[in-house]
Amino acid sequence: MDLRTKYLGFDLPHPLVSGASPLADTLDSVKRVEDAGAAAIVMRSLFEEQITSEQLAMNRAIDTPAESFAEALSYFPSPDQFVLGPDEYLEQIRRVKEAVRIPVIASLNGVTPGGWLEYAKLMEDAGADALELNVYDLATDPDETGASVEQRTLDIVTTVKAAVRIPVAVKLSAYYSSVANLAKRLDDVSADGLVLFNRFYQPDIDVEALEVVPRLTLSHSGALLLRLRWLAILSGRVRADLAVTGGVHTALDAVKAVMCGGHAVQMVSALLEQGPQQLRTIREGMTAWLEEHEYESLRQMQGSMSLSKCPNPEAFERANYMQILQSWRK
Ligand SMILES: Cc1cc2nc3c(=O)[nH]c(=O)nc-3n(C[C@H](O)[C@H](O)[C@H](O)COP(=O)(O)O)c2cc1C
Repeated sequence: MDLRTKYLGFDLPHPLVSGASPLADTLDSVKRVEDAGAAAIVMRSLFEEQITSEQLAMNRAIDTPAESFAEALSYFPSPDQFVLGPDEYLEQIRRVKEAVRIPVIASLNGVTPGGWLEYAKLMEDAGADALELNVYDLATDPDETGASVEQRTLDIVTTVKAAVRIPVAVKLSAYYSSVANLAKRLDDVSADGLVLFNRFYQPDIDVEALEVVPRLTLSHSGALLLRLRWLAILSGRVRADLAVTGGVHTALDAVKAVMCGGHAVQMVSALLEQGPQQLRTIREGMTAWLEEHEYESLRQMQGSMSLSKCPNPEAFERANYMQILQSWRK
């Protein structure tokens, strides 16, 4: 079965990609991911705060940081809690690139346009084939407008696009008042791909200790539905390639993501839970499904559930919503 797809300019043999995670932390794991047939691998993120605090330390300004930044620093994990420091990260790109033949996508994670973005160029120089910019931004300031939050993201992407020649994908959250408009404006600043969506980790609270309990839980297929909706809405409407991340656990999940317009299908939880060989299982499952349903290629089904031909997607969504509410019977 012809499962070929194109993502960020790469001709991939199939859409299954190992998403940003610890799976690229060791060469052993990276090789297992490649051997299991990943079409590409995304490295874990290097964070703005890691770079900024190191740059501050280098400037000897760490003793007298601005008040708000000093307070923010006290929340951050200490440098030794990060698996890879900024220099180590660049070294890891070089090592991973030497170890595998699949495209290696480095990940930068932050929210403000600033000096830390110089790392985009350093990542390119270290050999990264593409960049994923993760904008994990929980806007908490009541005085900041949505437009201003979005402008920061657009400024980050503009800065990075001007600095590098490799493709740049943007990993977004689903919680913008107009995801479609932001996607269009990211198109305008030449983002090469959109990765839908960041999972917002929702910490619980410990009522005895009065503490926040950050606990990492892996996803389940239910998380995919939000992504499917937005893939279907954006597919055919934006120039940027679309990747899904969040809730892909089975071959059918991957089929749905491609039907809704996904060019790449990223997986993390499934690979951490079941091991990288899950990539092979899902690829075989997709092939079997396509054969059974008499498709000749993945491309034939790509975007078949896109809403791009729907004259009024908003009315369509409202209609579905009303139907669902009316469908409940005791
Ligand atoms: C242990 C772990 C580490 C992760 N680290 C990163 C990271 O460094 N950068 C990032 O953009 N996403 C990171 N993610 C998020 C994943 O890339 C992915 O978007 C998310 O897990 C949803 O996909 P899934 O349902 O396939 O797990 C991480 C996820 C897990 C479980």
